[in-house]
Amino acid sequence: MTVRLKKQVIDILKVLQQKNKELDASDLARELNIDYIVLMSAVNDLKDVGLADFREEEVNQISLNEEGLSYLKKGLPERQLLQILLKNDIKEISIKEFVEKSPLPKPLFFVGLSNMKKNRWVAESKATGETKIFVIAEEFPETPLEKFLKNFEKKPTINYQDLNQEEKNLVDTLNKRKLVNKLKKTRRMIFLTEKGKAINIKDIKELKQVSKITSDMIIRGTWKEYELKPFNVTIPGPSLKAGKTHPLINLINEIREVFLSMGFTEIRGPIVESAFFNFDALFQPQDHPARELHDTFYLNNPKTAKLPSRDRVLAVKTTHENGGDSGSLGWQYEWSEEIAKKTLLRTHTTATTIRRLAQFYERNEKKPVKVFSVDRVFRNEKVDKSHLAEFTQIEGIVIDDNVTLCDLIGLLSEFYRKLGFKKIVTRPGFFPYTEPSMEVSVYFDKLGEWLEMGGSGIFRPEVTYPWGIKEPTRVLAWGQGLERIAMLYYDRNDIRDFYINPIKWLRNQAYIK
Ligand code: PHE
Repeated sequence: MTVRLKKQVIDILKVLQQKNKELDASDLARELNIDYIVLMSAVNDLKDVGLADFREEEVNQISLNEEGLSYLKKGLPERQLLQILLKNDIKEISIKEFVEKSPLPKPLFFVGLSNMKKNRWVAESKATGETKIFVIAEEFPETPLEKFLKNFEKKPTINYQDLNQEEKNLVDTLNKRKLVNKLKKTRRMIFLTEKGKAINIKDIKELKQVSKITSDMIIRGTWKEYELKPFNVTIPGPSLKAGKTHPLINLINEIREVFLSMGFTEIRGPIVESAFFNFDALFQPQDHPARELHDTFYLNNPKTAKLPSRDRVLAVKTTHENGGDSGSLGWQYEWSEEIAKKTLLRTHTTATTIRRLAQFYERNEKKPVKVFSVDRVFRNEKVDKSHLAEFTQIEGIVIDDNVTLCDLIGLLSEFYRKLGFKKIVTRPGFFPYTEPSMEVSVYFDKLGEWLEMGGSGIFRPEVTYPWGIKEPTRVLAWGQGLERIAMLYYDRNDIRDFYINPIKWLRNQAYIK
């Protein structure tokens, strides 16, 4: 039977045949400059076809410790001391003077000196009364210990078992001088079997790797010549350009989740709204500048809107004219039903929450009522990187007894906290329909800035009385911009991106949030 092996395995077999002896696996891996794992897997391939094998044995691995390594560079203390004498042409010196000249700490100096004597480089004598060192040798060739030390330059570790007796003695000396570390290790010795020694490399066929087997390979039977490459399941696949929900919708859904988790239910109202619900019911006088054409998109078709029941229309009318029973003097002008019937694209979703107040009145509902809306509004604004003519508002109200500004701040904080904004701040603000009114800003960590998010407040009696909502029942209300949050969320600095749909950016968005 022909033997088939991968090219790399054949190469390793060649090396084993050339060396013709047992080899230490880690030495061989280092020599061939391949990974130990790769080498062992090749050896296992050889083992499978009966050409090679390995055995394990315990060895004592010797390496130099920090001090030993420093001597490898600078020379042993005895050599360092000798250099001082030779450099200064000193033939005799008192110990005292020698210590002073030496850069070595005292204990090391004496280690060095005693080895100098052992090497018969110097002798000590008290003949003159003072202890003196005399240089007695003429030449100072490398000692066996120094020669052996140099082995560590080529290989950081040496196996004790591989050494001859003389070398073992030298390791013992280094060990006594506390210059080495010893580590017990299991090593693998690779060897060829008789079959492996005898086989002719030319008779071995190369096993090619393929990633798939074709029907042709099966029919011809050539599939046996190939090895299937393992699949790498960590490589990212081609990106899918399938449809997905728009990031803005994802954010809206997340906001819905936040409101729902806080016990709110969703409401929706018409985009084509009456001036009545958009302005009049919010106690905005009919000559209010915001109603003017440059801000509001008025409609010709339908020309007029249907108003609620007569008595409610009258209640709003009287509030405007003289405050009605709200305790206010009103705006002191003649209110026109014609103007209230005008149709427009709603400029804020507060119109929708007022419709909810109307429903609360008509159905004589129980408190509390907690509702929200996330919906489109329209304003005749010049479009630029921070303004849109149509955008989305996040609106909410709570109808309940004795609710206060503190409850409102608590709700807003909780809402933004759930969206990931830890800090919010409220400042006094003004809206014709709330008193008190607050502007809400959140802290955006990434920019290190406070960003204004919208308005809030407690609806004025002029707004709530026409719908039968009187002290101690109050309505907390807020309206915030969605695109503002979206810009922070998705790191876009042009608000128009959410509507012109930059395809590259959209493709990079996650499918599911
Ligand atoms: N309607 C206001 C706006 O469009 C926001 C707001 C809602 C303010 C409710 C107070 C209360 O900016």
